[in-house]
Amino acid sequence: MTAATTATRGTTAAVAVVDTLAGFTARLDDERRDGRTVGVVLTMGALHRGHASLVRRAAEECAVVAVTDFVNPTQFADATDLSNYPRTLDADVEVAAASGASLVFAPPVDEVYPGWPDPPATTVSVRALADRWEGVSRPGHFDGMATVVVKLLAAAGRCRTYFGEKDFQQLAIVRRAVTDLSLPVDVVGCPTVREGDGLALSSRNTRLAPAERAAAAVLHRALRDGSASLAAGGDRHAVERAMAATVAEEPLVTLDYAALVDARDLEPAADVSPARPLRLLIAAAVGPVRLIDNLDPRRSA
Ligand code: PAJ
Repeated sequence: MTAATTATRGTTAAVAVVDTLAGFTARLDDERRDGRTVGVVLTMGALHRGHASLVRRAAEECAVVAVTDFVNPTQFADATDLSNYPRTLDADVEVAAASGASLVFAPPVDEVYPGWPDPPATTVSVRALADRWEGVSRPGHFDGMATVVVKLLAAAGRCRTYFGEKDFQQLAIVRRAVTDLSLPVDVVGCPTVREGDGLALSSRNTRLAPAERAAAAVLHRALRDGSASLAAGGDRHAVERAMAATVAEEPLVTLDYAALVDARDLEPAADVSPARPLRLLIAAAVGPVRLIDNLDPRRSA
C-alpha cells in the first residue's frame, strides 16, 4: 500500500492506494466497524469531471469514499481498444483526493481475474436488458461489465455506489444485477456532466479530431429535438424521426440508433402516457469514435 498526499483548497487530504482485494475489503470493513458509512465509485480511471461529480456526491452522502480504478479487460471486445485505453493512475489519485475520496483501489488484472489470461468460468449476465441497444453492437460487453461490477461490489461490502446516468443502460443493468443477486448495496444514479455545447464528458472525446469534436455536439441537439417533439405531442415514431433528422444534418456523424424507451426496462416505449417514465437513447459514430448519450425527455424542456 502507498499513501499519496494532495493539497485541496488549503487542506491536505491523504489517499491510500491499495492493490489487493483483501486490502480493499479490510479497509472498508474497518471503516464500517468504526461506524462510518461507505460510498464506492467504480471507474476505469482516466478520471474527468464526470467521474469527479460522482465522487463529490458520494462524499456528500457517505462518511468515507472509495474509488476503484481498473481497466476491465473482459468488457472490451477489441484488444487494440483495450491497449489504447488511457492509464493515468497518478493523476486519478489526485482527482479522487480533491473530490473527497480517501481510498483508491487499483488492482492488477490477475488480482481481479486469477488465472488471467484465462477468462473466469463464472460470469454475470443480465438477460434482456443487456441484449438491446449497446448490447447489439458490443457483444459480450455488458457481461464483462456486470461481472466486474459484481466482483468489486462484493469485495466492497455494504455501501452506496454511485453510477453516471451517462451510461444509462449500464446503470439499469447494474441495478438489476444488485437486486437479483441480493447485494447489500444501494445504487445511486447521478446526472450526466456535459461540456458547454452539450457533449457528454467521456474519456473517448479526446480521440476526436477538432472537426469531429465540434460535430459531436449533434447528439445532445438530437436529444433535445426528440424532447421537443414529445412535448409537441409526438408519439415514439415522431420523436425518433426528429432525432434521426437532426443527426442526418451532420455529415461527420453516422447514427446507430435513436430511440424512445421505457426508462425501467429500456424496451421501445409502447405509448407515451404520463405514467410511463421515458428515456431517449442515442448512439452514433463520430469519425472513428462511437459515442452514446441519453436524456429524460420530460426534464430537459
Ligand atoms: P467509466 O467509463 O470509467 O465510468 C465510471 C463511471 O463514471 C460510470 O458510472 C459512468 O457512467 C460515469 N460517468 C462517465 N462519464 C460521465 C459523465 N459525463 N457524467 C456523469 N457520469 C459519468 O463505466 C465504466 O467506467 C465501467 O463500465 C465500470 C462500471 C467501471 C466497470 O468496469
